[in-house]
Amino acid sequence: MNTLFGRIACGLVFLQFVGTSIALPHPAVPEYFHNAPFTRRDVPVAQIQRELGSLLSKGTVIIRPSDAGWANATERWNTATEPRGLELVVRPAQESDVSTIPGGKSALIQGGQYIGDVVRTLWAAGYVTSTGSNNCVGFVGPALGGGHGRYQGLHGLASDNVINLNVVLADGSTIKVNKDSHSDLFWAMQGAGHNFGIVTSAESKIYRRKIDTWHYHNYVWSQDKLEVLFERLNAFHKDGKTPPEMGVEFGSVIINPAFNTTDPVLSWNFAYAGSAKDAEKILKPFNDIPALSQQKGDVPYPEIAGIQGMAEGGPGCLSNLKAGTSVGLRSYNVTSQRQILTLFNATMASYPSLAAGGVVFYEGYSTKAVQAVDPVLTAYPHRDDLHLA
Ligand SMILES: Cc1cc2nc3c(=O)[nH]c(=O)nc-3n(C[C@H](O)[C@H](O)[C@H](O)COP(=O)(O)OP(=O)(O)OC[C@H]3O[C@@H](n4cnc5c(N)ncnc54)[C@H](O)[C@@H]3O)c2cc1C
Ligand SMILES: *[C@@H]1O[C@H](CO)[C@@H](O)[C@H](O)[C@H]1NC(C)=O
Ligand SMILES: *[C@@H]1O[C@H](CO)[C@@H](O)[C@H](O)[C@H]1NC(C)=O
Ligand SMILES: *[C@@H]1O[C@H](CO)[C@@H](O)[C@H](O)[C@H]1NC(C)=O
Ligand SMILES: *[C@@H]1O[C@H](CO)[C@@H](O)[C@H](O)[C@H]1NC(C)=O
Repeated sequence: MNTLFGRIACGLVFLQFVGTSIALPHPAVPEYFHNAPFTRRDVPVAQIQRELGSLLSKGTVIIRPSDAGWANATERWNTATEPRGLELVVRPAQESDVSTIPGGKSALIQGGQYIGDVVRTLWAAGYVTSTGSNNCVGFVGPALGGGHGRYQGLHGLASDNVINLNVVLADGSTIKVNKDSHSDLFWAMQGAGHNFGIVTSAESKIYRRKIDTWHYHNYVWSQDKLEVLFERLNAFHKDGKTPPEMGVEFGSVIINPAFNTTDPVLSWNFAYAGSAKDAEKILKPFNDIPALSQQKGDVPYPEIAGIQGMAEGGPGCLSNLKAGTSVGLRSYNVTSQRQILTLFNATMASYPSLAAGGVVFYEGYSTKAVQAVDPVLTAYPHRDDLHLA
């Protein structure tokens, strides 16, 4: 999965704020999402500075296509889905400020802040919270749609931890969205929250960090271990009973020429909030599958994303052309998984240029605290899923 932008735009990006001609939409975009010519287009720089600039905080940067920073400010993880017709990016200074931690029970996280910054800032202050897993994604984007991450087994989804959203509506008014203010919107924005308005900041519950290190164990298995691996993954996650500290395992069926030039390998990494001893006891079923290679170790929480390829600049964050789809599951059908591997392998052999980037990706999160939340309380619809693939 993923990519990176590095730490590009540290702020909200206003798409199509002004645009002249109506850029041709991607053919896959349904008509009702096409740009409509109801915003002013081709507005001169001086006018933008006068009208918009005067409303923004000191230090805010307005970036136009002719500016040196344009490529950086508009870089996309997936270059296949770049928005067209973008004419202006606004990087508000105040929205990229570091979070504050009022009173030690919650943190105020700015609308444009990246997960990596949230994790590092909280950890340094002695706290953790639920976020998405990948450092180069914003905090708010995933938190509006649920937000799967390594702390969800212990503390629930990122959206379950949000206690207030500061929102600017389309009419320019600002509202607070929480259980007492616009509570219907709060229900919707905890799981189906994109595009009701712009979230300028979110207040999220935080937790005192109780452990100093996370244990990781990465395995590479040959493809003939597929059946035993998926049977054990099914047992591991059965009925959502994965230990809550076993944050997540990410897996890839992938062609890795370092191991095998013709056949895929199974590359899996597990991350556990606690000691090596406790983790390895739980990982015994996987330790018993003979591996081509293994690595394990213990790192402070902010480093676990890098171990799992999801830190800024890492493989999960690279910007390039991507096409993909995903599915939520309760258990793996082992017969189907074999068919998927066979099809993947045959497709990679027929189109060798895909083999370097092609992957079947698996995510198995701990779900205890996610399932402890009554599904009627939020709009998040997938509490029953145990796996993502
Ligand atoms: C590399 C990568 C890794 C990922 N890893 C995870 C993961 O570990 N866990 C997980 O749950 N999901 C993950 N996802 C999926 C992710 O949750 C969604 O793609 C999410 O919408 C991305 O948020 P973003 O901040 O990048 O927002 P964008 O892609 O910029 O925006 C996504 C949507 O949210 C809206 N939006 C963004 N910010 C705001 C705001 N402040 N106010 C109002 N609306 C806003 C945008 O208008 C848009 O509709 C990942 C995605 C990628 C690309
Ligand atoms: C892009 O801009 C951000 C914010 O100004 C900066 O931190 C980052 O280094 C830039 N990246 C590149 C590749 O220029
Ligand atoms: C590659 O994988 C195939 C099938 O799993 C196996 O028969 C072959 O020995 C492997 N090659 C190497 C170099 O390990
Ligand atoms: C598992 O997948 C196989 C092959 O696609 C299918 O025939 C079978 O019915 C599936 N089993 C279940 C329990 O869904
Ligand atoms: C993978 O594809 C290669 C090349 O077509 C083939 O030799 C090999 O047998 C295939 N392996 C599997 C497990 O399908």
